[in-house]
Amino acid sequence: MGAFQIKENVHWVGAIDWNIRDFHGYSTYKGTTYNSFLVMDEKITLFDTVKKPFKNELLHHINQLTDPTKIDYLVVNHVEMDHSGCLPEMIDIIKPEKIFCSPMGEKAIQAHFHPKDWPLEVVKSGDTLSLGQKTVHFLETKMLHWPDSMFSYIPEDKLLISSDAFGQHWSTSERFDDEVSEAELMDHAAKYYANILMIFSPNVQKLLQKVAEMNLDIDMIAPDHGLIWRKNPGKIIDAYADWSHYKSKEKVVIVYDTMWQSTAKMAKAISEGLLREGVSVKMMDLKVNHRSDIVTEILDAKGVLFGSPTLNNGMLPTMADLLTYLKGLRPKQKVGAAFGSFGWSGEAVKHMNGYMEDMGINIIDPGIKVKYVPTHENYQTCFDLGIKVGQAVKEK
Ligand code: FEO
Repeated sequence: MGAFQIKENVHWVGAIDWNIRDFHGYSTYKGTTYNSFLVMDEKITLFDTVKKPFKNELLHHINQLTDPTKIDYLVVNHVEMDHSGCLPEMIDIIKPEKIFCSPMGEKAIQAHFHPKDWPLEVVKSGDTLSLGQKTVHFLETKMLHWPDSMFSYIPEDKLLISSDAFGQHWSTSERFDDEVSEAELMDHAAKYYANILMIFSPNVQKLLQKVAEMNLDIDMIAPDHGLIWRKNPGKIIDAYADWSHYKSKEKVVIVYDTMWQSTAKMAKAISEGLLREGVSVKMMDLKVNHRSDIVTEILDAKGVLFGSPTLNNGMLPTMADLLTYLKGLRPKQKVGAAFGSFGWSGEAVKHMNGYMEDMGINIIDPGIKVKYVPTHENYQTCFDLGIKVGQAVKEK
């Protein structure tokens, strides 16, 4: 992959990470990209860098267009190290005239790299920077998803360089949305939103409102990960509007783990009740589904059921992992219930209910506990729980 022009005199010069499989708890099973953009203007400007091990790839791409020492400006839209890991080395090479960052970006740069004499220039929302033929308008996007995050908008190109927002962890040789499967692209975008941005949904709502008020003319969105939206950037903006308002479907995710199949059998009986009610069901066994894929399915589900047998007076570690992760992401406007088998104490349902209370999930049933192995009566109770949850999901 070489440098690639995305707009006249605006080039993708980033790096493709085909092999990353874990992004602090998020399964990047199709890799990712670290997008970096070079604007060739009177002031040659580089927007964001890449993760440290990919510095040479970035330099190779820049060299296809210009001598890196000719770069005048660096714009640091986000300081997380997947975009800034090679920043100190790049600054040594480039010796930029100025480095632009948000006020929180300056603090983050100081805390990460402890620089002594970097030519930092703080910009705020509404500030503009002339590069010659092109102009950069800055927009702080605090907590999307770090305090320092910001957008850079180039009106002459109707181009929004959006940092992490609107991104996807997906490594491809293609660079644009219209060159890949739209369904797969949206799956990756949803996974990215669910696992990184769901917690910040109120901020996303405010940002979308602000962008609408600013009446920005956008015909391309270039995020720092994955594909660039050129065919229909409105599609991802609309999706963010839906996800940030917790728009959901008549769909229930049943997440469970099992010790000797009793809890798995309960899950199946519950699913049959849900199906009788005509709602969509996703069965997700924690032994074979990654937490980040489960959270992705929960993003647009109205209901979620958690199943775990009791182990040592608690729940199985896989369920504790999932619930801890999910609680941090703050899902909203869901109904839920818990279930699980037990031998002699049976605290798992109580603990799962505790997590649901903490998350604000509307617990519509105290939950079902089954001693050792379910009976036909127990299966009926599980089926009835499926009916109850299915009806609640249809009513909401
Ligand atoms: Fe892609 Fe928040 O870094």
